[in-house]
Amino acid sequence: MSDSSKDLANHTTTGSGAPAQSDRNTLSVGPDGPLLLHDVHFLEQMAHFNREKVPERQPHAKGAGAFGEFETTEDMSAYTKAALFQKGCKTEMLARFSTVAGEAGSPDTWRDVRGFSLKFYTTEGNYDLVGNNTPIFFLRDPMKFPHFIRSQKRLPDSGLRDNHMQWDFWSNNPESAHQVTYVMGQRGLPRTWRNMNGYGSHTYMWINAKGEKFWVKYHFHTQQGMEFFSNEEAAAMAGEDADFHRRDLFDAIARKEFPKWVLSVQVMPYADAKTYRFNPFDLTKTWSHKDYPLIRVGTMTLNRNPENFFAQIEQAAFSPGNTVPGIGLSPDKMLLGRAFAYADAQRNRIGANFHQLPVNQPKVPVNTYMFDGQMAYHHSGSAPVYATNSGGRAWADNTGPMPDSWESDGEMVRAAYTLHAEDDDFGQPGTLVREVFNDEQRSLLVDQVAGSLLGGVRSPVLERALEYWKSIDADVGKRIEEQVFAGRGDDPAAGMGDA
Ligand code: HEM
Repeated sequence: MSDSSKDLANHTTTGSGAPAQSDRNTLSVGPDGPLLLHDVHFLEQMAHFNREKVPERQPHAKGAGAFGEFETTEDMSAYTKAALFQKGCKTEMLARFSTVAGEAGSPDTWRDVRGFSLKFYTTEGNYDLVGNNTPIFFLRDPMKFPHFIRSQKRLPDSGLRDNHMQWDFWSNNPESAHQVTYVMGQRGLPRTWRNMNGYGSHTYMWINAKGEKFWVKYHFHTQQGMEFFSNEEAAAMAGEDADFHRRDLFDAIARKEFPKWVLSVQVMPYADAKTYRFNPFDLTKTWSHKDYPLIRVGTMTLNRNPENFFAQIEQAAFSPGNTVPGIGLSPDKMLLGRAFAYADAQRNRIGANFHQLPVNQPKVPVNTYMFDGQMAYHHSGSAPVYATNSGGRAWADNTGPMPDSWESDGEMVRAAYTLHAEDDDFGQPGTLVREVFNDEQRSLLVDQVAGSLLGGVRSPVLERALEYWKSIDADVGKRIEEQVFAGRGDDPAAGMGDA
């Protein structure tokens, strides 16, 4: 079948292109007789049906997306030579938004972090920025990531979601406090994907044409305004329309209401990283906007719905490892772990040649020695399959310090990051609660956390979670504790041990 739909009205064919005899009746011996093994068209339809699902994404299974354009409106050449960030450049792109813990059919409006994945089809290859709607994350070492995701998903015996398991993980890993405060606050329930911001979250490297390096953080600010659901609205919507966010984006684009985000970056001079008051590569920390103000870059507009959800969204493969010249990774350990994880997940989820699918293909010619494998479509003909070779096929051979590299020295150790002057787990979430949230938002936070702790969280996790909140903010912690006591009618920790 062609991937344009122009021939679809005329006739159907078998997978091998010959006319199909019937899509309505199997071949049988007489109208009531047995079915025949040589009804190849029927057998092929059945066999393919059995294989038409691919495994859902391990995290971020529920989502949807759209195509669009990124336009660089400002002169960024002082910071990066990346073609897509040169003033006036317009780049075709794909965005996918998602929840983290829910399965592919789960409601869009469950409280969770939202994924904010972007693929830019640039003139220098695909650049993927795979971020979230929060500027920070729960962890700072990738070793913990699979444990974290499992704690947010389902119990091994009952297959149920479980507050106790979530709080057990969070309270045992206090570096989660900043992100937990975000998720338990209003940002945990965006009204639509159009009404949320996006962040690259990690610190990335930018390199300009002179080879000068900078550290950057990406901020995409919604031009639709930030809007949220209340708990009641989100719960009602989960029952009424589990695909509310997916529908909202698709319908808005179909109505030609194209959502827009403005990209700004915080830029840190390369040398500042060593002495900045927070370790700038710690993903649980933000950089103060007073220290590093936002610099406007350009505008992202989503203006084209997918024509086929499976081909263009389910099979889309984003990876933080996909960078282009002028953009690099950083010493953020989480980012380095992610640089491996995604393509590996995609080889498992979609297949070894997932990058050859139209939605994942770069718009520039590819000349790679990655060779053969299941479903190989593009190939290099009879060209040599090894480098170096005498057959005229190129090979890359850069040596010495790489443009996007950084210095590192020392013994191989397993250790936490080096602490900078103001690094701790609770300082920034405390500032968020006290200085960014208003009274109403603080009360919503207290209600949300107390409600979640009342939902089956047992000793000793409960006491640890209450301590966690008192460490974030003494007053908010006390209010949460009082509400939990009141909800249980006694000392919440008494007699509820699971030991
Ligand atoms: C070490 C930490 C992490 C690991 C190992 C990890 C791993 C993964 C894997 C395996 C997937 C599924 C990919 C696929 O099947 O296509 C995924 C999806 C995703 N992750 Fe992570 N992740 C990590 C941290 C993060 C962080 C910090 C963010 C955001 C700042 C993030 C954002 C996303 C998003 C948005 C998706 C969905 C991608 C899509 O739309 O297709 N992840 N992650």
